[in-house]
Amino acid sequence: MSISIIGRSINESATLKLNETFAILKAKGEPVIHLGGGEPKSKAPLDAITALSSHINSGEVRYAPADGSIDMKKAVIRYTLENYNRLVEPKNVIVSSGAKQALMVALQAILNPQDEVIFPAPYWVSYPEMVKLCGAIPVPVVPEDGTFTPSMNDIEQNVTSYTKAIIINSPNNPSGAVYPESFIAEIVQFCEKKGIYLIMDDIYHKLVYNGIKVANAFDFVKDFSDNSKLIIINGVSKGYAMTGFRIGWGIANKKLIEVMSNIQGHQTSGPSILLQKAAIGAINGVQSSTNALKTTLENNRKILVEQLNAFSGIHLLPPDGTFYTFADFSAYEKDSTKLSKFLLDKVRVLTMPGKEFGMDGFLRISFCGSIKDINEGIERMKWAIDPDSPNELYIGERKLVRDWR
Ligand SMILES: Cc1ncc(COP(=O)(O)O)c(C=O)c1O
Repeated sequence: MSISIIGRSINESATLKLNETFAILKAKGEPVIHLGGGEPKSKAPLDAITALSSHINSGEVRYAPADGSIDMKKAVIRYTLENYNRLVEPKNVIVSSGAKQALMVALQAILNPQDEVIFPAPYWVSYPEMVKLCGAIPVPVVPEDGTFTPSMNDIEQNVTSYTKAIIINSPNNPSGAVYPESFIAEIVQFCEKKGIYLIMDDIYHKLVYNGIKVANAFDFVKDFSDNSKLIIINGVSKGYAMTGFRIGWGIANKKLIEVMSNIQGHQTSGPSILLQKAAIGAINGVQSSTNALKTTLENNRKILVEQLNAFSGIHLLPPDGTFYTFADFSAYEKDSTKLSKFLLDKVRVLTMPGKEFGMDGFLRISFCGSIKDINEGIERMKWAIDPDSPNELYIGERKLVRDWR
């Protein structure tokens, strides 16, 4: 079989693969606990469902414009004014099938083969593969000070004449780190000065805790004309618990949005009109479900952080945002793929190996599930890992006996 060079270079999504494994085990009746999830469990906002239902009831479900419907663009403009204090125009907005597609068409619009794209580690699993899909080169940068927050020095050391773009994801998947405003100010100014695209992946910006504020890149741009290199990515997946609706958007200069729309027009056409209606309902409707989601997550976060802090030998920098913790388990096992597999095999707890996010020795453990799952999942993990734990553990009726050291 003849496969393209790019096709051969793309790895399977590790997170999607583990979700599949979970579904298979669950279907077999295994008592598996998913602590690796990437989506809130709450229901979509009622306003989203009502808006979608009333459109589908009309029976007229047609193609949407390639760059998104005008009423969806208006909703994004309103969202941007409310959340970023910046009034943009419809021609600055593209609506895509998820933040993922908005990011992908942005990369396709700006990258040539051999261009380099910098992003701090740990990073979302899809960044390296998306960059490779454009024939370009991913350049992950591990913060030198051992934290999850990069410094400008870390970034600048990796800039070459091939650097075309930098992707910043704050709040960050998987670490939950929220980068300081001083760093965002510096990187916006640096990219403007050097003519490097700055892609802000803000998909988690509504999910922050303890009164933390997410820096707004628009506060620091001098120029948002056709020469602007700033691209903002956002969507309804995380903050509105609407992952399955697949609606996201990009905001950038008008020329770039035109190019991104041309690409999207040939790729998938505009996102489903029904799902855009639902997203409009969520954005323009009452915001109580997002607030309730935040309260639930804040509570879950507290419990998971307490549990992990009580886990001897594990090092954790508590997350300020998202619904993930990224804990260092290297004192137990340096190979995170091996550790994740061990936990799934022995105690049926699913965690995401840090290696997939550019940092081996860590595990991503989510707090978007139930408190019961968090408590039970961590208890099982402790039992499996701690050599001093008792020889037996019951999962319901099932007795587990340690046959490892
Ligand atoms: C950092 C980051 N960006 C983008 C996305 C994609 O969002 P969407 O589901 O809207 O495509 C995700 C989803 O997990 C993510 O974690």
